[in-house]
Formats: sequence, structure tokens, C-alpha cells
Amino acid sequence: MRYADAGYNLEIDLTRGNIEKVESDPRDTELYLGGLGTNAKIMWDRVPPEIDAFAPENVLIFSAGLLCGTPALSANRTMVTSISPQTKLFQYSMMGGFWSPELKFAGYDKVIMRGKAPNLVYIWINNDKVEIRDASHLHGKGAVETQELIKAELNEPKAQVAAIGLAGENRVFFASIEQARSSCSRGGLGAVMGSKNVKAIAVRGTKNINLARPAEFMKLMEEVKRYTIWRNENPIPNYMPILAGLGSPQEMKHDDEKWHTENFSWGNSRTRRRGFWNKDIAEDWKKTMATMQNRLISCFNCPNKCGATLTPPGQPTYMMKCFTKLTYTMAAYSDLAFGLSIAQKATEYGIDGYSGPQVMAFGLELLEAGILSEADFAGMPEDNDGKFYWLLDRIVRREGIGDILADGTYWAAERIGKGAHAFAHNNIRKHEQLPLKLGTMDPIYYLLYCCNEKATVTQIEGNFPQAPFATQEEKDAFVSDWFQCPSERIKEVVRKWSFKGEYAGPYYPTPELCSEIVDWQERMHYVDDCVGMCAGMSSFPLKPPYHLFNYPQIISAASGIEMDTDELVKVTKRVRNLVRANNIIRGLRRVDEVPPEDHWNKRFPELEKELLDTYYKYKGWNNDGVPTKELLHELNLDYVAEDFEKRGIYSET
Ligand code: MTE
Ligand code: MTE
Ligand code: SF4
Repeated sequence: MRYADAGYNLEIDLTRGNIEKVESDPRDTELYLGGLGTNAKIMWDRVPPEIDAFAPENVLIFSAGLLCGTPALSANRTMVTSISPQTKLFQYSMMGGFWSPELKFAGYDKVIMRGKAPNLVYIWINNDKVEIRDASHLHGKGAVETQELIKAELNEPKAQVAAIGLAGENRVFFASIEQARSSCSRGGLGAVMGSKNVKAIAVRGTKNINLARPAEFMKLMEEVKRYTIWRNENPIPNYMPILAGLGSPQEMKHDDEKWHTENFSWGNSRTRRRGFWNKDIAEDWKKTMATMQNRLISCFNCPNKCGATLTPPGQPTYMMKCFTKLTYTMAAYSDLAFGLSIAQKATEYGIDGYSGPQVMAFGLELLEAGILSEADFAGMPEDNDGKFYWLLDRIVRREGIGDILADGTYWAAERIGKGAHAFAHNNIRKHEQLPLKLGTMDPIYYLLYCCNEKATVTQIEGNFPQAPFATQEEKDAFVSDWFQCPSERIKEVVRKWSFKGEYAGPYYPTPELCSEIVDWQERMHYVDDCVGMCAGMSSFPLKPPYHLFNYPQIISAASGIEMDTDELVKVTKRVRNLVRANNIIRGLRRVDEVPPEDHWNKRFPELEKELLDTYYKYKGWNNDGVPTKELLHELNLDYVAEDFEKRGIYSET
């Protein structure tokens, strides 16, 4: 009997219309856990680097994590994996909500799609009955609208549906996949789904998932629950309110936007507006939120409520969370009412709320700079907000200038030429970053930005504080009950770390200590992304209920896999290196591991070099960022080393 795992994947050949239920190898679960880990293995085995994102041979995987479908609190992430049209690298993107537990209840861990359907279709998974159904009537329908239409057509209000909008159908490089209160947003996997002619995947399941040691598991969950309640009642003192509790950043609960509006950049990620926030704006935005917000909402089996449903006047209801609350407002130098209204349309179209607004502001900046002409924008309204609505429509339809902008800032700049690349200034690995331009280089964030396989810092930051505490009392108090922290050295950093003097950045923490801290943060994310846990209960906040010391027992009690902290660390190292290997064969090297040039105003080239050198060494990678043969052997990844060898990757340097 399989425990925690359903033990079966659905293999769908869209070209031939063939569906198979295939038993998965339990040894793979031991080695890679599930979710991102086993997805990375399948991508490695099946998608060679010559395959383009939109080629039928590319594979698109929707995967539940190992703990999804068990009673583990907040285990609800669906990991979607493929090749990104934007970065041309291995992409994983995830959504919470309700989809992956439902897939497990239907009896599957993954839906693995290859090929391309001849016409637009949707997949309907109803326990053992799985069909590919015609979706021609859903052409052009919104990503949220489609979910409701499919549920109605199936007469299955309890089905969970993940869908793309027009942007995905038209292969916009930053198209998302939307589901209930969640979104699989970054890297354009909605476009890959569109390229396969799959409009949606609906699932309904009524089976059970087995637990290896149920009584022990439930006891562990009681502890997680008790701590979660305590932690929610005890936010971290003297810390940003949106990050002081559990969950993803609590944007829907908080009205005070001084921090984001004054520290993040406006327009095409250019301008910081110190002193922007004032009493009038505070009142106006509070009123907007009160008018539009219906209620706070949660994901499957989670005690937090990070999202909200919103109804802008005269528009349908949609869900919103985290920093997407402000991305449209700030890109357009507008107000919150505009931002929340256009976000509704953008969610229906299915585009990423981080890349989308920046791409639009980038287009307008090129017009102002004379690189694009008035003729390119013929028909665009005069008013500022109108311009963004107009651009959004052009982009998702790939009409006129929208067709170029739909490729994202990097590829658009490539097509436009004339110096446009200087305006695509906020990218890592050709992928738009959070609109942030800061002062002095931060060594921890330097590594997080450079070396994150997904080129999205929100997916990797977390358990370590973002800034020093102001007083020694605060530092000592923070460390005093920090049982989640895996090392005394890291605790010592928090005790010493200061805004000024010997223990201030950028030279403190030292490169060795930064490597250790970043490695820990990454490790937590990799566990979450394999077991399907929401980072908001684990890798993202300070002092979370899930950590390296209770995870092994939880995973073991659920799955029966023998596990202690050392073994868990080894598994995450294996998965982290396998994900990287998928990128290494696609050409990723040290030269690509750079932050946007203007991310920090004050840079320290020698220190930055040392940081990367030290981190690579810490990771067991060579000086070009390639995992060494010895490391790969230690991690049972000899097959990766052999492949690197065959491709001549080791002899390059
Ligand atoms: N959980 C995992 N496992 N991995 C992640 O990267 N990101 C967090 C949170 N949970 C994240 C995660 C962040 S920053 C946000 S805003 C929400 O997921 C996004 O929720 P959604 O995917 O349900 O839309
Ligand atoms: N895009 C859409 N359409 N909807 C969203 O809710 N959330 C943003 C961003 N883009 C969001 C979005 C947030 S808060 C995060 S952290 C990332 O997407 C999550 O990226 P992922 O879904 O690729 O993991
Ligand atoms: Fe969803 Fe927030 Fe719970 Fe995470 S912590 S599962 S984002 S409600």
C-alpha cells in the first residue's frame, strides 16, 4: 500500500488523445519526495534542452505535493512545471487553493501532459473516469469565468478547475493559470498550457489518502495547530505588520501602504516616491478597500486567510492577495481603485500581476523615449488609466504593439532594438522582478536574487529577518525562542547584526555566513515545494509552525519513509541540484546569476564576486556554478554527472 502518495500519475498524450493511469515508482518518492522534486526528475528524463517551450514535445506537469490530501494543515500547493517561454529555462510555479488535494482524492499525484490537442480542449478528471473534452465554446473566456462555466456544464459544483484566459490561449509569455483564490503566475506556464490547446483541467475526487502512522501524524498536527494559533496571536514585535504573522504577506488585512508605496518603485520600476503616503491617500485607499472587499479567504485546510474576494463597482468578483494589490496602481502612477479594477480584468485574461504591469509601463516609457512611435500606439486613449486598459487588451490579444509586448520586456526589447534593452532593466534571466530599486547592496539578498532557480525572490526569501533589529534587547528576545533556527552561528548573526558599525552590511554577515543563511532559506522552500506545503506556514515567515525539526517526523508518519533532519537536508540538496541541472543543460552559468544592474545604487563588485565564489563552494558547485561530479555522486545523481560529461559541460571551464 502507498502512504501519503496516491501512487498513480495520469499520463496524457494530447496529440493522440490517449490517457493512461500509470503507477509511479515509490523509490522516486524516497529520493525526491514529490511535487517539485519528482517533477524535476520527469522533466530531466523526458525534456531535452533542444525542446522549445511551445513545442508539443515539451511536457507540462500539474503535481500535488507529498502531503497534499493528508490532514496536514496548509498542504495544498499544486506545482506546475515546464519550460518557460520567457526564461527558456526549467520553470516551476505554484498555486494554493483547492486543486491539488482534490487531485489526490481522485487518486493521482500528477497530471503529465505532452503533445498538443488538435482543438481547444479541457480535461475532466472524475475519480477513475478521465476525459478530454471539447472546449471550443470556451475560446476567449476569462480564466475565472471558465471555472464557473465548466462546473455548471459538468453539474459538479465541487469540482476544482484550473484554467487559462485569453492570454494563455494567445501564448502571452507571462500568461498565468488561475484557480479559485489562487494563481500559478510566474514564468508563462499559462502560455505553455495554451500552446497545448488545454483551456482547463477540472478535477473531482472522493477517495481517501492513506497515512502510514495516523495516530502519530495527528498528534504532530495537533502540535502544529497549537503553535499556529499561538504564533498568530503573537506576531513578531517591531516587525513589518504584513510579515509579522503567518501566511503570505497580509496585504488584504492591512490598509497602511506607506512601506510599499515609498520603498517599491513606480512606473517601469524606476521611481521611488519618498513622502508619497499621506493622510488623504490613506483615507481614500481605506475607503476603496472597504467598498470593494467582500471577505478574507483561505486555501484548503488552512487556518490563515491571506486572500480576499473583491468586487470592483460594476465588475465581477475575483480574488486578490499579496503585493499584486499594488502592482497596477504603482506601474500606472494611479490610485488603488484603478489598480483593483484593472487587476480584475487582468486576472480574467490570466496574466502575471508582477510582469504584466511592468511590461505596460515599459511600453509607455519606450513611447516617451521615442523608441516606439505614436503610430505604434494609434487609437490609445489620452488618459493615463485608459492607456493601461488599452495596452492590456492589445497584449492579451497580441494585436499591433501588443504582440511585441506580449513577449515580456526582454524579448520585446530584442524585437524592437534601438536601445530598448536599456529599458528592460528589471530582469533576472529575462524575467521581470519585483519593482524594487534600493540603496546599498544587501549580501543575503544578493545571493537570493542571483542564484534562485526560478528568478523570483518571493519564492526563496523567508525564515531569516529581512533587516537587523534595532536594539540588543530586541535581538536577544528574538533569538531566545527561535527553535526553528538550525545553527548557533545564525543565531549569533541576529544577535550581532546592526544598522551601523562593525556588524552592519554589506560586509556583515560575511560571505560564509550569508551562504549558510541562504542555504537554509532555500532548503525550507525546497521541502515546501516538494511536499506541497504553503510557504506561508513554513519557509516564508519568521518562526513558522513547520521547520526542519518537525518536518522529518511529519513526512515519515504520513508516508512511512524513514526520515531524520539529515536525510531531509540531503533530499532537498538532491532536488535543488536536479532543478539546477535542468537549467545547466539549458545553458545557465555564472554570467546569468546577476541582479538587475540598477537593483542597488551602491554596488561592491569585489564583495559580490566573493559572495558568489563562497556560495558556489558552499553548495559544492564549480566556479561557473555547475554542480561537481563529487557532489552529484554523493546525492545519487550520477546520471546527471554522466550527462554533463557527455555534453562537454565539465570541459568548458
Ligand atoms: N508556497 C510554496 N510552497 N511556495 C511558494 O513559493 N509562495 C507564497 C505562498 N505560498 C509560495 C507558497 C506567496 S509569496 C504567495 S503570495 C502565495 O503563496 C501565493 O498564493 P497562490 O499560489 O495560492 O496564489
Ligand atoms: N499574478 C496573478 N495573476 N495573480 C496573483 O495572485 N500573485 C503574485 C505574482 N503574480 C499573483 C500574480 C504574487 S503575490 C506572487 S508571490 C507570485 O505571483 C507567485 O508566483 P507563482 O504563482 O509563479 O509561484
Ligand atoms: Fe493560503 Fe495563506 Fe494559508 Fe498559504 S497561509 S495556504 S496562502 S491562506
